Amino acid sequence: MTTAIAHVNIALVKYWGKADPRINAPAVGSLSLTLSNLWTRTTVNFRKSLKTDRFYLNNKQVAPHERDRLTNFMDEVRRRSAIDCFCEIHSINSFPTAAGLASSASGYAALATAAMHAAGRHLPPDELSSLARLGSGSAARSIHGGFAELPAGSRGQAAGAVQIADEHFWPLAVLVAITDGSPKTVSSRDAMAMTQRHSPYYTAWVDSSAQDLDTMRAAVLRRDFDAVGALAEHSALKMHGLMMSTRPELLFWNPGTVAVVREVIRIRQKGIGAYFTIDAGPQVKVLCRPHDRALVAEHLLALPEIRDLTMCAPGPSAQIVEEC
Ligand code: PMV
Repeated sequence: MTTAIAHVNIALVKYWGKADPRINAPAVGSLSLTLSNLWTRTTVNFRKSLKTDRFYLNNKQVAPHERDRLTNFMDEVRRRSAIDCFCEIHSINSFPTAAGLASSASGYAALATAAMHAAGRHLPPDELSSLARLGSGSAARSIHGGFAELPAGSRGQAAGAVQIADEHFWPLAVLVAITDGSPKTVSSRDAMAMTQRHSPYYTAWVDSSAQDLDTMRAAVLRRDFDAVGALAEHSALKMHGLMMSTRPELLFWNPGTVAVVREVIRIRQKGIGAYFTIDAGPQVKVLCRPHDRALVAEHLLALPEIRDLTMCAPGPSAQIVEEC
């Protein structure tokens, strides 16, 4: 029995679109920051007596469509290790599941880490990341602490993410504003496929991604807060513009999302360094410097649309926390 913890990450340059859906090869490269305080804790127990894999999330059996995805993932774990029996998996999320808070990122990173360890194979982080990618593209980045980059892939070819700086490299604060904790109605997977097929801007998105990635990597490595923040906002808005231009439209925002975005722009105009990013859901993540955290939190908590605010710092790599 092995237990691992992995943290969620926010993409500063977004991954959206697949070059090869069968292996989750991303069509564009992405760069992320792993967050403290938002994590998945997963225990894997392989047992000869089991006739099938069993999955529990927050103490409940997972829905059938999610079970199939998890079974495929565990089949891949069995292929890559010497183990040939089924297992029982218990996961706990420290935050609302499937609400655009990257639960699949921390979920598959924790599962890949715990499962390979329980199966007796100790993979180096790049290989573990490549395995986690098969569960969810963004999970490849949650294997690493701090800043991670997942390169674009192509048909039949994709790598794992690499760490470009660890969690101690640059103290930053990320405030995660929950505007609606209920599960989203369209998965990232389905939403990406729709966008690729139906947005007239998809090619422009792919064509501009390599430049965004190079600019972001350089800005992170020289700890240029305003350059990182401005490009993170741009990448998020470009991705949401792409979703909105899809037919039928993909609109993850709610009035609370807009209220937070407007407040961040307003306080920035008053001289407070804050930038937002949004994933495939209505929550907003606000990036600021640690000494501005309390002030930014005060402004956000004054908005009636905010349900909850979690303060995060750069988070650590996925790791084994218990084995017996
Ligand atoms: O890893 P997935 O399939 O859940 O897709 C993640 C997509 C975004 O969170 C919107 C962007 C990203 O790069 O994390």
